[in-house]
Amino acid sequence: MAIARTTTIIFSAIIIMLFSSTTTAHTNNDIGGKPKRTHIIVEACKNASIKSSKYHHITEEFCVSTLRQDKRSDEAKDLHDLALVGVDILKGHIIAASGKVKEMLHSGKNETSTAHRLSLRELDYDAAVTSLNVCIAMLKDYHGPKGGEKDGPPSFYLLDCVGEASGLVSYCEHELVDMPGQEALYKENIELGKLGDLNVALMAPYWDLTQN
Ligand SMILES: *[C@@H]1O[C@H](CO)[C@@H](O)[C@H](O)[C@H]1NC(C)=O
Ligand SMILES: *[C@@H]1O[C@H](CO)[C@@H](O)[C@H](O)[C@H]1NC(C)=O
Repeated sequence: MAIARTTTIIFSAIIIMLFSSTTTAHTNNDIGGKPKRTHIIVEACKNASIKSSKYHHITEEFCVSTLRQDKRSDEAKDLHDLALVGVDILKGHIIAASGKVKEMLHSGKNETSTAHRLSLRELDYDAAVTSLNVCIAMLKDYHGPKGGEKDGPPSFYLLDCVGEASGLVSYCEHELVDMPGQEALYKENIELGKLGDLNVALMAPYWDLTQN
């Protein structure tokens, strides 16, 4: 009897400990069944950090904090929802960066050679946004790995599409690297490149689907 009671107390203590550690981890998200959703962000980001190459390493923390910029991440049911949010975040940041370049170009204050390079950058950013619009449409149409009328685009198209948009952003780095007075733009572009890499890493499971 005494032993049984002690066992019950220890057992309860363990349950309470488990429960409180769970609630601590999800303090900001324990309303309305959100802990489960938080788990999807963390799981997808864990996967992305494992899948991202060593050279373009994406940490789980960077991934989680980036996706959290948009409230829709908390409502995401699966990777598909999260991938859409990620692509939208990237698109928003590229549009903002492109706006700054356009402003500089239209101010007419830059020398011709600088202006030419800024124009190339504007082209790359605009092309990246156009690509991302295609990726968003594809993601919305996607219903399974095989592709076809009913399923929409095959999964490897999604990875290709996001990879292409991300590549265009990274390409801008070459136009900015030794441009005096453009350090801020260069730094911003490095951040954009990282965001692109994150999106590519998030799409990695779609590539695995193609392989199976
Ligand atoms: C994470 O990767 C595992 C193993 O590949 C997979 O089963 C799981 O569905 C992935 N989770 C998300 C949210 O993508
Ligand atoms: C280009 O013009 C902008 C102002 O519109 C200025 O801030 C920037 O430093 C200029 N860049 C170069 C390389 O001259």
